[in-house]
Amino acid sequence: MSPSPKTKVAPELEFGNAWEYAAAPESVKVEIADKYGMFINGAFVAPKSRRYMDSINPANEELLSKIAVANEDDVDRAVAAAKAAFPKWKKLKASERAKYLFRIARRLQERAREFSVLETLDGGKPIKESRDVDIPEAAKHFFYHAGWADKLDYAFPGRKGRPLGVCAQIIPWNFPLLMAAWKIAPALACGNTVVLKPAETTSLTALRLAEIFEEVGLPPGVVNIITGAGETGAALVAHKDVQKVAFTGSTPVGKAIAKQCAGSGKRLTLELGGKSPNIIFEDASLDQAVDGIVQGIFFNQGHVCCAGSRLFVQEGVMQEVLAKLEVRIQSLRVGDPMDKNTDLGAINSLGQLATIKRYIEAGDAEGATRHQSSAKLPKRGYYLPPTWFTGVQPSHTIAREEIFGPVLSVMSFRTPEEAISRANNTPYGLAAGIWTDKGSKIFDIASRLKAGVVWCNTYNRFDAASPFGGFKQSGFGREGGRQGLLSYLELV
Ligand code: NAI
Ligand code: MG
Repeated sequence: MSPSPKTKVAPELEFGNAWEYAAAPESVKVEIADKYGMFINGAFVAPKSRRYMDSINPANEELLSKIAVANEDDVDRAVAAAKAAFPKWKKLKASERAKYLFRIARRLQERAREFSVLETLDGGKPIKESRDVDIPEAAKHFFYHAGWADKLDYAFPGRKGRPLGVCAQIIPWNFPLLMAAWKIAPALACGNTVVLKPAETTSLTALRLAEIFEEVGLPPGVVNIITGAGETGAALVAHKDVQKVAFTGSTPVGKAIAKQCAGSGKRLTLELGGKSPNIIFEDASLDQAVDGIVQGIFFNQGHVCCAGSRLFVQEGVMQEVLAKLEVRIQSLRVGDPMDKNTDLGAINSLGQLATIKRYIEAGDAEGATRHQSSAKLPKRGYYLPPTWFTGVQPSHTIAREEIFGPVLSVMSFRTPEEAISRANNTPYGLAAGIWTDKGSKIFDIASRLKAGVVWCNTYNRFDAASPFGGFKQSGFGREGGRQGLLSYLELV
């Protein structure tokens, strides 16, 4: 058995209200074990595979810890634990299930600073984003779904919702803890049990969430966390006792999982990639729009499935928008993610850095014009300057494929009709943004964009009560809101 990871929490975080510490300097020291086992049946256990992989800090390339790699036996052990826990968890009074979710949410708030630091160390995102978005939003998801647990009978009038059983949940590395919360909270609220696999570069906060499950006394087996890469994920999806698969990640892996599940009777939801349009009309408030463009593509280094990576600007304001955009991008601070002033942190992995660089090279080679911030980058670690391309044609690779990095493709349009047809000209359909002063235009355009989420005069806003999900190759099924419950219930 590998040692259960020890956490030393600053004493003031053990008791009291997390909000009181928001203004304090970032001084939390987070203890990270040398090695992590997996969380199965309520305890940390060593992998039967005996294999471990490195987890590094992408901001400085230093080793943070070693993480277990689950093989088929480990997967089997985790699924068996979830299966054994299901009948009791399902039968538990709904208000009791809710209490566990409330406790998890509360504990996440209390340990928020520790989780923020760990998220930033492991994944490279700016500490201000972990602190202000990832961790509080993860807690909100548990609060929100705690509220649903004993009200499911009212969610779908005339129907009864029954839990599905063991849910296999596979999540990506761009919002590690938040995606864990998006997956686990609704599954538990609806009475299911879970085996969750975080992404291989960012497993640490999910493993620490398991400590919270221990702290709040969640019954063993209700949530199991196994670690590993694609092979582990594939073994989990394939397991015969899994009733439901929920996946967030790349479109190719999503398609492979869909094939694997076809004919198996397993329920499936997929949240895949995107190439979302952000459309700026001449009548928009341009300063606000430029902020929205920057937020849309550079938030979390552009590692965002709904990133506004295709910018469409109406011709009459193109020059003005480009001028303002350049000033704004040049002011972005790129570098150490632990620095509270940093706007863009590290690219999540060496592999992702290489992928993004390949796309930038394709942009150059196919004839678009590259612009980059002159920000000075740290010598060690994986960094890229914020990048934008003008002179982009719809046929260019950088206008068609998901880059998942801080790279924006700028294009123009003349009429609203042209904006709509160009925006919809993509195999994806996850999100879109519209910037205009005219309310009527908002309603008209929004209703004609094929996208799961349409933001108007804002971008990248999320709420646990608001369903999220895609059309076309961006996947199917919704997460969040009342609609998100449907992914974890069978209606009878
Ligand atoms: P990926 O889709 O390979 O990884 C996502 C998760 O799936 C990870 O937990 C991974 O271990 C797991 N996985 C990989 N292969 C699997 C398989 N055959 N069966 C089951 N699980 C499997 O994404 P990757 O390689 O990290 O990133 C590649 C590209 O995917 C990115 O450049 C980006 O374009 C896109 N992506 C999109 C995300 C989104 O939120 N829509 C999130 C992450 C990546
Ligand atoms: Mg890492």
